[in-house]
Parts: sequence; C-alpha cells; structure tokens
Amino acid sequence: MVTTLQGGSVTEGVVRVGDTVRRPVSRSTPNVHALLRHLESRGFDGAPRVVGTDGLGHEILSYVPGRSGFVENAVEDLARLVRAFHDATEGFPLKDQGWIGGSNVDDPPEVIGHCDITPDNVIFRDGRPVALIDFDLARPTTRLFDIVTTLRHWAPIADPVDLDPLQRGLDAGERMRLFCDAYGVPPRDRRRLLDLARLRFHRSYQVMRTRAADGGAWGRMWAAGSGQRIRRAAAWLDVHEDELRAHLV
Ligand SMILES: Nc1ncnc2c1ncn2[C@@H]1O[C@H](COP(=O)(O)OP(=O)(O)O)[C@@H](O)[C@H]1O
Ligand SMILES: [Mg+2]
Repeated sequence: MVTTLQGGSVTEGVVRVGDTVRRPVSRSTPNVHALLRHLESRGFDGAPRVVGTDGLGHEILSYVPGRSGFVENAVEDLARLVRAFHDATEGFPLKDQGWIGGSNVDDPPEVIGHCDITPDNVIFRDGRPVALIDFDLARPTTRLFDIVTTLRHWAPIADPVDLDPLQRGLDAGERMRLFCDAYGVPPRDRRRLLDLARLRFHRSYQVMRTRAADGGAWGRMWAAGSGQRIRRAAAWLDVHEDELRAHLV
C-alpha cells in the first residue's frame, strides 16, 4: 500500500510503501546515507535505515513506526536521544563538502548535527521519542548549535503568537535547563547558549531569505511569514533574556 506522508513542509512527495519510505534525493543524499550507515554500524537505532535508491530520484529508507509531532513532557528523553545521536556520529568525517547549507557556526565542528530537530522530525512511540528522521539538513557542526536549534522548537524559543495553543505558557527556561541536564551540557556551553541562539536567528533569517529567492517550498514558506517569525522569536528572546539565563547558570 502506498500512503502519502504529511507532517513536514519542505519535501514534496514523501510516500510510505509498506515498511519503507520514499523521499526525493537531494544533494546531501550520498552523505546522509553514509551517515545513516555509520549510525547503524555504531548500534544507534534512533534513525531510519538506508534501504537504497530506486533509480527514479528517490531514496528508500525504513519506515519508523510511531507518530511525529510535539509532545510536551518529552524534553529530557529527547535530550538523551540527541546526545546518543551526537555520540554515535563520532568517527564520521567532518568534511564540509556535500551537505546542504554548509557550515553555520564559527567554532570548529565536533559532530554531525541533525540541524532540523523539529516536532515533525521526531518519531514518538507511547509518548517517548524513539527516532530522528529527515536528515536533509544534517552537517558538521557543534553539539551546542544542534542543541540550540532543537530548543528553538522544543523549549520553545518563539513568540507565543507563533505557537500552537498547546505550546503556549510552557516554562521555556526550565525546559532548557531540563534539556541541558539530561544531555549533559557543560557550564561553559550553557552560558553561551542564548548568545548562540541570537546568532542563529540572525543567520537563519539570511539563509532563508536567500533560499526563498529561488522559489519552491522555501519561497512559499517565506511568503507565509517564516522570516517574520524568526524576527519575532529573536525579539522575544531579547525581552526574556534575563529570566531565561537564570535557568542556565
Ligand atoms: N522514515 C520515516 N519513518 C516514519 N515516518 C516518516 C519517515 N520519513 C518521513 N516520515 C513522515 O513523513 C513526514 C514528512 O517527512 P520528512 O522526511 O520529514 O519530510 P519534510 O522534508 O517535508 O519535512 C514526517 O513528519 C513523518 O511523519
Ligand atoms: Mg521533516
């Protein structure tokens, strides 16, 4: 049976065929497949397995049973999953070529980051996060950069006007602390976290504006206000900086 999968907003034509998923290949697919095979060889089971490509421009991955989407009380389990993922990428070459987006921080890369751990890209079973999917934006980066990107969506770091009702009123600072404790983020990185979030907002605004100029899905997201959402999130971060920081010292 063939089922069209929804959840993400970027990739068109993601379909489930039995216990596999077909997704359009991208420039990063050769690297992503090598990464997924590396994770498998390291015994990490929180990611799809590579089945192959179909010769028609699609990659074939294993279907991970469960549901994607935001779950409120998952931030510590998610932190442990992200930690296990980062640790399992160790030993994988940290070369810049062949990834989408290129390097995005000034610090030397430490691991391969997923770089897009949104609610749509985490699979839950029985309320617990069991796998990351959609590695299209994975690339060499620092642990802290991937953590900041994850917290953008899961603390979340956002203006409440842009959030689902079920995400409003969450204590973002406390959730950042829970994440950092469960991941094992050292004090030095906790102190840098909010500054890096600010830098990331600035850069992702510019990257998205550049991608939007090419049209396609990025252009539609920009037209639907993705740039303004980043600006509002950055402003929200400025207003709440002190109270957030108090959770991270
Ligand atoms: N390997 C997989 N196992 C289970 N579900 C998947 C898998 N890949 C994609 N999906 C489902 O399809 C949705 C969209 O796929 P995704 O790969 O995230 O594409 P997009 O680039 O559009 O975000 C996901 O949110 C998830 O619900
Ligand atoms: Mg996705």
